[in-house]
Amino acid sequence: MALINPSILSADFARLAEEARAVEGADWLHVDVMDNHFVPNLTLGVPIVESLSKATDTPLDLHLMIEDPDRWAPQYVEAGAGSVTFHAEAAGAPVRLAREIRAKGARASMALKPATPIEPFEDLLPELDMLLIMTVEPGFGGQAFLDIMLPKIRRTRELISRHGLQMWLQVDGGVSAETIERCAEAGADVFVAGSAVYGADDPAKAVRDLREKAEA
Ligand code: DX5
Ligand code: ZN
Repeated sequence: MALINPSILSADFARLAEEARAVEGADWLHVDVMDNHFVPNLTLGVPIVESLSKATDTPLDLHLMIEDPDRWAPQYVEAGAGSVTFHAEAAGAPVRLAREIRAKGARASMALKPATPIEPFEDLLPELDMLLIMTVEPGFGGQAFLDIMLPKIRRTRELISRHGLQMWLQVDGGVSAETIERCAEAGADVFVAGSAVYGADDPAKAVRDLREKAEA
């Protein structure tokens, strides 16, 4: 099973509700929150997430590229997010934060930048519903997929299996019809795609094509 989560970072921000509906068949809508501190870019915050969650039936997959997620993540659950991902590099107390996100009723997830190894976090995996491996440096859509991340995806999948966990393994950055099969083969099962979906003439068809390739 492959989950395809279009990233609205590549959508038209003035028409978010329509853009959400343009990806009929998508499993989740990936929402990139950037604060211009953790990453050198600025996107959107709690009020827009609140409005977007009312405007679409597709559940929201929040990716917080922000400092101090310990303070902000719970507010995104209250705003309607079904899944909240914080960065390992930014979280002060990741176990407490993951438990708080779950207690508030959302899936808890942690992201790793390309240079952050998975091994120090092995013991935390049971606290998480998903692990996100960045396949570009976070901050911008449309960057080239980093093939050097494939071994980390493979090692993470092995750890998840070894611990007998049901958690999802998400990849984000440069995922396209050209790269998705490599990600799936390495063990990813949740695929974020921004430019590959919203840059296509028919975004809903792009979602179907990505799914077909991931499940091949
Ligand atoms: C990048 C974001 C991604 C971005 C991916 O920092 O986390 O979610 O939207 O865009 P593409 O798929 O174009 O690389
Ligand atoms: Zn993202």
